[in-house]
Amino acid sequence: MNPGHGTRLFINEVATRDGFQMESRFIPTDDKVALIDRLSTLGYAKIEATSFTSPKAIPALRDGEEVMNRIARRPGVVYTALVPNLRGAERALDGRVDEFNLVMSVSETHNLANLRMTRTQSFAQLAEVIALARRAAVPVNVSLSCVFGCPMEGEVPQDGVFGWIDRFAALKVQGITLCDTTGMAFPTQVQALCAAALARHPALGFTAHFHNTRAMGLVNTVAAVEAGIRRLDMSLGGIGGCPYAPGASGNVATEDVVHMLQCMGYDTGMDLDGLIGAAAQLQTLVQHELSSQLPRAGHRLTRHAPPSEFADIADRAHARDARELRP
Ligand code: COA
Ligand code: ZN
Repeated sequence: MNPGHGTRLFINEVATRDGFQMESRFIPTDDKVALIDRLSTLGYAKIEATSFTSPKAIPALRDGEEVMNRIARRPGVVYTALVPNLRGAERALDGRVDEFNLVMSVSETHNLANLRMTRTQSFAQLAEVIALARRAAVPVNVSLSCVFGCPMEGEVPQDGVFGWIDRFAALKVQGITLCDTTGMAFPTQVQALCAAALARHPALGFTAHFHNTRAMGLVNTVAAVEAGIRRLDMSLGGIGGCPYAPGASGNVATEDVVHMLQCMGYDTGMDLDGLIGAAAQLQTLVQHELSSQLPRAGHRLTRHAPPSEFADIADRAHARDARELRP
């Protein structure tokens, strides 16, 4: 049974932004560029290459302009970057991004902690960024943090989430990403929220973004796709997390998610063996174990030799058969 047969999904890599922002070791610019160039060959729809945030807030990505200006852009891949304010948007234009990925949180507490602005202040700044993007003909996606819950406020009312989606939709952005910043989402919630969002704004491109903090990332991905979501953020090796969200941990791992979706018959366009190779390169850069399972386990149909005493076991069992079958 392949329920996903033929359905095209669009995979966005966020390891180089959501992932690297959380690493304690500064990844040298040369290594970032080399990794992005390798990822560009693997079938992604989009790569979030960096962020244009304050270098004090996110020192790991202080080389955003250089990264953007040195990568080899592959036709068909959208190179996006996270933008929190007008200063970030100006830097992103200098970096010749294909898209602004604006960020704000639907939780007032998380927005203050992460962006040092109230949600109203963020929205006002982002409205100016959207006007700038229109003049520069740059498409805009908005990543909404804490859509499925906030680690400081707890439950986030769905009405409030839709209020922010509606306000950005009114400004004619191209897409909205529903972010589960600290892995608080669960499948029935994901199904309900994604289905309602798609029904309310059929023309908007919605993306789902899950962290695997409570091991629900894969099942939430299935729930989102079954609700009709076709664009998914994920992070090679399962690295990632927001440094200003207490308890945050890594995103769903690209190689694990792509393997699952391919088993289910979805068309991801991704080169899975290439991903496993890139994950090995990533591990040498971050210098710690990755949380993804697939590089350790291999594909579902990876075959192992039977145990060493297998020939004896089989001989004895077959001999028993022969004795019992003797007339
Ligand atoms: N890029 C580079 N520098 C920036 C900047 C940007 N996007 N935005 C502000 N700055 C600089 C200002 O120029 C100013 O510099 P100065 O001290 O040399 O004069 C300084 O940062 C303070 O500016 P201010 O506007 O007061 O910013 P802030 O300190 O209130 O920080 C943000 C606001 C949004 C810039 C900051 O909180 C941030 O970058 N947050 C991102 C967090 C993040 O990425 N989290 C993970 C992703 S969810
Ligand atoms: Zn994230």
